[in-house]
Formats: sequence, structure tokens, C-alpha cells
Amino acid sequence: MDRIKLHDKYFVPFIPHEQIIKAIDQVAGKINDDFKESADVPLIVCVLNGSIIFTGELMQRLEFTCELTSIRVSSYQGTSSTGQIKQIIGLQNNIAGRRAIIVEDIVDTGATIVDLKNKLLEAGASEVRICTMLFKEEVYKQSIKLDYVGIRIPNKFIVGFGLDYDQIGRNTKDIYILESQESNS
Ligand code: IMP
Ligand code: MG
Repeated sequence: MDRIKLHDKYFVPFIPHEQIIKAIDQVAGKINDDFKESADVPLIVCVLNGSIIFTGELMQRLEFTCELTSIRVSSYQGTSSTGQIKQIIGLQNNIAGRRAIIVEDIVDTGATIVDLKNKLLEAGASEVRICTMLFKEEVYKQSIKLDYVGIRIPNKFIVGFGLDYDQIGRNTKDIYILESQESNS
């Protein structure tokens, strides 16, 4: 099998590239339906580093005038969330009175996006929507709704297409899933 090793763990293929691209096409189509006719210039907020690749693919499919900015936060250590969000690079653009779309690689507990949405609203955004490539629905603990969701996945640790395991594994076209503990030795 086409398994890969990252640090101490093995990962096996989970979501093929073609399926990811199909999901991105769908999400982009929905965003275009909602934003195409708008006169304003919405701000696309890429959540570094995980959503760099997703944001790059998504942006190429957006058919309205938009601006790109990035923000860097971190809540994960190893293969689980710490529940605490560290902001490493803050927001550079003026967001007052503007609409924003947060672009995330994955929503797990939802702590990160809720924190980010609040920060953007505090900075004066007129509306904040959330777009995520992947969604671990079973673990989501928040009441705010996700506006655009690519693929729903079970509560398992995954890597690839931007997502990392302790900073490595982001550079694969497909998404991989952590192999069961028993066969890791
Ligand atoms: P949340 O705040 O619990 O929703 O966690 C969201 C963040 O945790 C994401 O932006 C990812 O950076 C990271 N994350 C969550 N699940 C995974 C995973 O399965 N693999 C890699 N990173 C993950
Ligand atoms: Mg992330």
C-alpha cells in the first residue's frame, strides 16, 4: 500500500486529489452564486498555514473582485487540539465595514473559527462567512453555522493537501489518514 511515514507515524491514502478538487469546484460555485453580483470587494482570509493550498485552488475559481489576506493561528500540537488559539500573524488589512470570508483547511472543535470570526467582527467587518475544505462534524461544539463546507469527515487525524502533522506532510496531492495504532510498529 501507498503509505507514508511522517515523524513516528504511518498514514494511508484517504481522499484522492480528484475528490478534493471536485469539492472545491462545488464550494467555489456556491460562493460565486452568493457574491457574483456584489458591488463591494470582499476580503478572503486565508488561515495560515494549513489552508494555503485550499485557498490557492479556491481563489482561482472565484469570479468576483476580491482581496486576499492571511492570518496565522495555531491550536494544534501533535495530533490533537489544545483548545487554545495562539495568534501568530495578525490581520494586516482594513476590514471595517467590509464582508469577509474565512477560508480554513479543516474545522474540528470549531474553537479556531469562532475565535477568528469574533476577531474580524470586533475589527468592524460587516459580515463574516466561513468556508472550510473539511469538517469533522461529530466533534464540532459551536452554535455558529459553517457557510461553505467541502467534505465532511469522521473524527480521525489526517494530513496532506496543506494539512500537517507537526509541520510536515503538507505537500501531498491526496489526503492521508493516520494508520491504526496496532500496525504502527
Ligand atoms: P479547531 O479549532 O479544533 O476547529 O481546530 C482547527 C485547526 O486544527 C485546523 O485549522 C487545523 O490546523 C488543525 N487540525 C484539526 N484537525 C486536524 C487534522 O486532522 N489534521 C491536521 N490538522 C488538524
Ligand atoms: Mg489550520
